[in-house]
Amino acid sequence: MEEKAAKRVVLVPVPAQGHLTAMMQLGKALYLKGFSITVAQTEFNHLSPSDDFPDFSAVTILGGLSETEFKNLGPVEFLIKLNVVCEESFKGCLGQLLQQHGNDVACVIYDEIMYFAEAAAMDFNLPSVIFSTMSATSFLCRSLMGRLNDNPLLDPLEEPGEEDKLIPELYPLRYKDLPTSAFAPLESSLKLYMKARDKRSASLVIINTSSCLESSSLEWMRQDLQAPIYPIGPLHMAASASFSLLEEGRSCIEWLNKQAESSVIYISLGSLAWMEHKDMVEMAWGLANSKQPFLWVIRPGSVPNPESLSEELNGIVSERGHIVKWAPQKEVLSHSAVGGFWSHCGWNSTVESISEGVPMICRPFSGDQKVTARYLERVWRIGIQLEGEELKRGDVERAVRMLMADEEGVMMKKRALCLKEKIEASARSGGSSHNSLNEFADFINAL
Ligand code: UDX
Repeated sequence: MEEKAAKRVVLVPVPAQGHLTAMMQLGKALYLKGFSITVAQTEFNHLSPSDDFPDFSAVTILGGLSETEFKNLGPVEFLIKLNVVCEESFKGCLGQLLQQHGNDVACVIYDEIMYFAEAAAMDFNLPSVIFSTMSATSFLCRSLMGRLNDNPLLDPLEEPGEEDKLIPELYPLRYKDLPTSAFAPLESSLKLYMKARDKRSASLVIINTSSCLESSSLEWMRQDLQAPIYPIGPLHMAASASFSLLEEGRSCIEWLNKQAESSVIYISLGSLAWMEHKDMVEMAWGLANSKQPFLWVIRPGSVPNPESLSEELNGIVSERGHIVKWAPQKEVLSHSAVGGFWSHCGWNSTVESISEGVPMICRPFSGDQKVTARYLERVWRIGIQLEGEELKRGDVERAVRMLMADEEGVMMKKRALCLKEKIEASARSGGSSHNSLNEFADFINAL
């Protein structure tokens, strides 16, 4: 008897490290459940084939935008334009896939921000699924901000002095925690959120979070969207899919092996955030004065002229620090020498840290990171947020000491370990995220 071909899902990721990471983990999780995977990628930030995904097929959405346009437009305007230029080309890709695989193509799963994919799927009568790679709470914020009319959330954002006020419906978020972008004016973010909300007609939403982290935001999302929501995360616990747009520096693991247990603060700002030269100097002095060993990822492009710092930094680093351009982050966070994580609070970094029980110092840079930083400090209470426009070395020193050496830090570590247990339980057989992923697989099989 002829064997029935596996159902195929078409993944449409945002071409950026943080979003690609989660989408490839989803692909791997679905592949392990027996589905065939096609990844539709733009020419920008195109993934090279990796040992981790030998059975995935790939199609390229041509006519996309270049590195230069990314630099000129910035991420928000780039994404708005990408959605315009990719729609027709993606229709062509889908048409070809349907010719090749016919009814085996079950659905299109697109990153919330790649909303052009929905129109193409509709054209071919294919079901579409939104994948949110960020937190449920930030999804909710983007969705509320993207309402076209009558939007009381937006007025205080324009009023100086109002931004510190709490938003009653979104407690404990303040207006300044809303996911506005550091890369673009408010109107651009709103345009992106409006378009993503406007186009939405997907059958359901899957999201890289766990109900043990964000149950009330998930409930609100269900009411707002009137669609089934499946919290299936954190996906790195369901399917490890390590890939990196930058080369990992493994020297840091050897260095960590020589450090005392829970003594090291790991510092990384993810793949997009950057800091001013003066903030970096303050940070380096604050770290040095805290007397705590530190592992610092200084990604190329994340600080202007890092070479001009080297003399000052070298002295500090040679004493008790280690710097790499990019680290094997999950391995670092699971290392017994690491006791704290200074993070920009990107969603992947946050769930990776929570699932290792590592408390955090939060210095959000843009967008959803501000929402997450507030949750880390006020809801899960496993983080200290460093606020204010400029970093000051005294504040850095105090925060590092509090996290790594004080009683408050010990309590945060306890709460982080408690959350780690909950999140592990949700990812295990019978847990909420595990069940949601199975239900989602059943949904695809029934298409
Ligand atoms: C982007 C957005 O900026 C973020 O706000 C959003 O939540 C997700 O998409 P990014 O800034 O790159 O992501 O941060 P994050 O979500 O934390 O993802 C970074 C990924 O790169 C993580 O999976 C992390 O493990 C990995 N990483 C980071 C490394 O492997 N090595 C490093 O040195 C730094």
